[in-house]
Amino acid sequence: MNELLPDPAPDFDQPVAVLKHCHGRIRKQLATLEKLLAHLPGHGADQQARQAASAVLKYFEKAAHLHHDDEEQDLIPMLRAVAQGEDAATLQALAPVILQDHKDMDAMWQDLHEQLTMIADGSGTQLSSGGVQRFTQRYLGHMEREESMLAPMALRLFGPEQMTRLSQAMQRRRGIEPTPAATVPDVAMPGGSVAAPASTAAAAALAAAASAAAASAAAMSVGERVADLRKDYGQASLDERDVADDPIQQFTRWFEEALKAEVNEPNAMGVSTVDERGRPSSRIVLVKQFDARGFTWYTNYASQKGQQLNGNPFAALLFFWSELERQVRIEGRVERTSAEESDKYFNSRPLKSRLSAIASHQSAPIASRAALEHNYEDVARQFGETPQRPHDWGGFRLVPERIEFWQGRRSRFHDRIVYTRQEDGSWTRQRLQP
Ligand SMILES: Cc1cc2nc3c(=O)[nH]c(=O)nc-3n(C[C@H](O)[C@H](O)[C@H](O)COP(=O)(O)O)c2cc1C
Repeated sequence: MNELLPDPAPDFDQPVAVLKHCHGRIRKQLATLEKLLAHLPGHGADQQARQAASAVLKYFEKAAHLHHDDEEQDLIPMLRAVAQGEDAATLQALAPVILQDHKDMDAMWQDLHEQLTMIADGSGTQLSSGGVQRFTQRYLGHMEREESMLAPMALRLFGPEQMTRLSQAMQRRRGIEPTPAATVPDVAMPGGSVAAPASTAAAAALAAAASAAAASAAAMSVGERVADLRKDYGQASLDERDVADDPIQQFTRWFEEALKAEVNEPNAMGVSTVDERGRPSSRIVLVKQFDARGFTWYTNYASQKGQQLNGNPFAALLFFWSELERQVRIEGRVERTSAEESDKYFNSRPLKSRLSAIASHQSAPIASRAALEHNYEDVARQFGETPQRPHDWGGFRLVPERIEFWQGRRSRFHDRIVYTRQEDGSWTRQRLQP
């Protein structure tokens, strides 16, 4: 059984990972900002709102500036010093976009800063929804640019000497005595191998996309703009010689790397089932366990997916770890976990989640939110602190027959390795065309 816990923040001996970790924290602050926006109309500047506003202020006033300085004063100049040919061209197009993002985000922040200060001291309740949306969207796009272009380039071009220099500069900026150079190891991306150089065309496309996106955003609907979303992949590669003989081992390796990279909801997966007419439907669930027996999630057996699996036990799972440019597709037959396993997991859940599982007849229609809340109150009154697992709630385990690992590569020339289970339980594997 695999019970993998998220890793703590990386050390400064992996400066690029530290920068990436900062992005995780920025994303959390942006989520808090969105929650605060939803919270204020109903609750005003109550204690929770004041705390949230203070936390966001604290982060963007200090840590975010240090992070921008790391990039402007160290990372980008150091990349400029080593980048050649197509990398240099990419950087020439990318660096002004990054710097402009920083300036624009600073200006957007100033408007929010004033409002958040008043919320934090309880003297105001105004927070501009448009301001929050613009700030959030700009930051998310900015981090995506850095994660897909700058960070992979640094990992590819920097040797131990540059990594040490970057690490030391970042530590000094934060008033930390730098770790001695000898302890700074090489930094490699998960997957181990290096990316191909970014093309000049990609650099030009990036610069064009940045200005074109701003100009056309107002004129086109999101539905129209979606065709222009184009991202080239190139963080890593997947080679037959590098993958494990056993696909569960390979999955474990990738899952550990997803945890390390702090991908968003690494255990969220799509589950597709089909109804009696052969029509498919998909939804996201959380994998709660995986091992040689298969991949387990918990749900309501009477739900739509539960009913479909009763009629046809074959299903497909899908993981997409965008930050690592990876997808895993898993297909096989689904069985129920034992009552003991389901009880064990049910009893490990927080009380309110257990009560919710009893109160909700998942996938069945209900007249209103109020009716749902009413059912919950009834269940809470009836079961108190010791709710029992209902018989129609438990685990499903997909026993895999086919597992495909997909690694994004440049210009849509991706790597795909698929494992197929044989009659005797052993696995064969082969490469598929992208
Ligand atoms: C991130 C995320 C995690 C979810 N995890 C679960 C889960 O573990 N179990 C579950 O029954 N539903 C989960 N859901 C809700 C399902 O997507 C779905 O709405 C629900 O299971 C009903 O699906 P059905 O009507 O097709 O049976 C999750 C949704 C999201 C977005």
